[in-house]
Amino acid sequence: MRTVAFVNLKGGVGKTVSAANFAHILTAVHHKRVLLVDGDKQGNASQYFQLYGGQDGTAALLVKQDADIMSTIYQTQYKGLDVITSNMDLYSADRELWADEERDQTGSLKEALRRAAADYDYCVIDNGPAIDVITLNILVAADDVLIPVRPDDFSIAGMVDLLEQIGHVKILNPGLTVQGAFFTHWQNRETFGQARTALEESGICPVLQTAISYNPKVSESTFAHTPLCVFAGRSWAAIQYKKLTAEYLALTDSGKGKEG
Ligand SMILES: Nc1ncnc2c1ncn2[C@@H]1O[C@H](COP(=O)(O)OP(=O)(O)OP(=O)(O)O)[C@@H](O)[C@H]1O
Ligand SMILES: [Mg+2]
Repeated sequence: MRTVAFVNLKGGVGKTVSAANFAHILTAVHHKRVLLVDGDKQGNASQYFQLYGGQDGTAALLVKQDADIMSTIYQTQYKGLDVITSNMDLYSADRELWADEERDQTGSLKEALRRAAADYDYCVIDNGPAIDVITLNILVAADDVLIPVRPDDFSIAGMVDLLEQIGHVKILNPGLTVQGAFFTHWQNRETFGQARTALEESGICPVLQTAISYNPKVSESTFAHTPLCVFAGRSWAAIQYKKLTAEYLALTDSGKGKEG
């Protein structure tokens, strides 16, 4: 099972929509078995697949030392796509982990996911807009990081801090690879060109070729609780998310999963 985390300190950049659609495309187009982990207390990825509720999910895996991961996995209506949900329990889990220096504060999620690794080709993790103990757990569990970013100067400036934090986590997880940042909410060719040049020249991380246009179908799909390829399969956003997923698979050795 290969684990991919969608991360950015900034809110509203498209982490959830990207993680959810990337996960759905891995199953629907590439026939992979995918476990989507909601790593945000807002629970938006869970809501997208109509699985939001009070059940045990990511928080339980973080704080209950021998939590049974199988009992936290819920099937979606899409073949091959399962979800571990989140809700505000993740807020308490973050505080509980933070306060307890006696235990392994950053390795619980990785340990829990190991117990499901044989059942999935990919684990895709949606992260909240923060660098907290939950994020550290996600980065320790991940093989790859993808960073959605809006094409504006503030967003690009914020990435320096993010990349610095990811650099620190490499001490705990040396195999962690930032596969790249990709632009979302792209509207205007000129701003987009400036943003791409600024990010490439900063040299802080690779920039993926695929960008996701601003497209109202994306917000509509959240109301419809339906992945873009099903909700609006011919929309630019759906096509671009397919390209993004294919670009990731090509970058990571034609989509071969890591062992274990
Ligand atoms: N390409 C797009 N075109 C139009 N709207 C988009 C696009 N991508 C995301 N959105 C909308 O932007 C908002 C933020 O997207 P999303 O929730 O995925 O961001 P996020 O980074 O997960 O936010 P948060 O940090 O709060 O978790 C949502 O309302 C979503 O519908
Ligand atoms: Mg989100």
